[in-house]
Amino acid sequence: MDSGLTMVMCAVLLTKMVTIAEFNETDYEEGMDNVEPVFLSSVDNITVREGGLAILPCSVQNLGTRQVAWRRLDNDHFLTIGTLTWVKDLNIQVEHRILGEISIWDLLIKHVRTEHEGLYECQVTSVNRYVRHIALHVQAIVVKGRQLVAQGDELKLVCNTTGKLRMPDDVNWYKDGQPINSSRFSHVVVTNYRSLGSRTLVSVLSVNRSRTSDSGEYICRSSLAEIDSINVTVQTADMPNVKRGIQGVQGVFRPISKLSNSVPTSYSLHYNICFVIISFVVT
Ligand SMILES: *[C@@H]1O[C@H](CO)[C@@H](O)[C@H](O)[C@H]1NC(C)=O
Ligand SMILES: *[C@@H]1O[C@H](CO)[C@@H](O)[C@H](O)[C@H]1NC(C)=O
Ligand SMILES: *[C@@H]1O[C@H](CO)[C@@H](O)[C@H](O)[C@H]1NC(C)=O
Ligand SMILES: *[C@@H]1O[C@H](CO)[C@@H](O)[C@H](O)[C@H]1NC(C)=O
Ligand SMILES: *[C@@H]1O[C@H](CO)[C@@H](O)[C@H](O)[C@H]1NC(C)=O
Ligand SMILES: *[C@@H]1O[C@H](CO)[C@@H](O)[C@H](O)[C@H]1NC(C)=O
Repeated sequence: MDSGLTMVMCAVLLTKMVTIAEFNETDYEEGMDNVEPVFLSSVDNITVREGGLAILPCSVQNLGTRQVAWRRLDNDHFLTIGTLTWVKDLNIQVEHRILGEISIWDLLIKHVRTEHEGLYECQVTSVNRYVRHIALHVQAIVVKGRQLVAQGDELKLVCNTTGKLRMPDDVNWYKDGQPINSSRFSHVVVTNYRSLGSRTLVSVLSVNRSRTSDSGEYICRSSLAEIDSINVTVQTADMPNVKRGIQGVQGVFRPISKLSNSVPTSYSLHYNICFVIISFVVT
């Protein structure tokens, strides 16, 4: 067969198959539009440490051809509509997946900053209003440091706290519930650094030559009542080297929902059939 003719036949076949596929898909989805969309229940209050990844869940059943959009409750502008982001914030995007009859439209905010804190609304665009609200709280204090220190080595913890409107005046450190002050912890040195521009206060706690008695839970508490803590173990040479690599676990929340197995849509079915026919014609 002449290749030009094959091309034409392919095109005709493709058009036919795609038309059928589209007809079938709209038929199915228009059927769904008569059914009320339902939000799947999930967490509605999320706390994420500053700099972490926030996942605001939104799963809808019976979505049909309707769109899902996200906005902040204190702002009329949409953040996202469908899978498109409508704000100039590269850290904001929608993660869309389909699991059987459930359409998932989670809002992802990477490198969360205190400005991201607030109430968010996931809405299904339709004549009737279908909305779901989720509160995002940004924990604006983070303590970092090595959780496992060899006896005699330096123990160093860094507490970074950013004020939402103004810089915190101060931070206080506690070890196992006891305030760290000069009389009880004379070997502990605390140094604070302030960055006015970014409303950030960084407090560095250090012990030059650590002892096993320095093991314990260290809490950093800002004057704005934000709290973070870290557990430190000072180990002697004969202690087993366990628990390594458990530091810095970021708060990530995922929706918990029971989902049925994914079924192929009529579109992908037709696409496959079309592919088989095209291959057949070409050979
Ligand atoms: C729609 O899809 C079904 C299979 O899901 C198929 O049997 C039927 O023929 C299709 N309808 C049309 C009009 O192509
Ligand atoms: C969400 O959680 C924060 C802290 O975990 C709490 O202060 C706040 O009251 C909660 N808000 C709602 C609406 O439950
Ligand atoms: C403290 O946190 C701010 C905001 O996340 C960040 O810009 C800054 O680099 C951090 N500073 C340190 C010393 O970790
Ligand atoms: C240090 O803290 C202890 C309680 O842990 C308290 O009894 C003591 O008065 C404090 N000392 C100073 C100088 O603040
Ligand atoms: C800790 O060591 C540094 C030098 O490594 C020194 O400058 C500092 O004074 C020491 N601090 C204490 C509390 O011993
Ligand atoms: C530290 O250890 C205590 C007791 O073992 C535990 O209750 C606490 O949650 C731990 N804190 C962190 C930040 O892992």
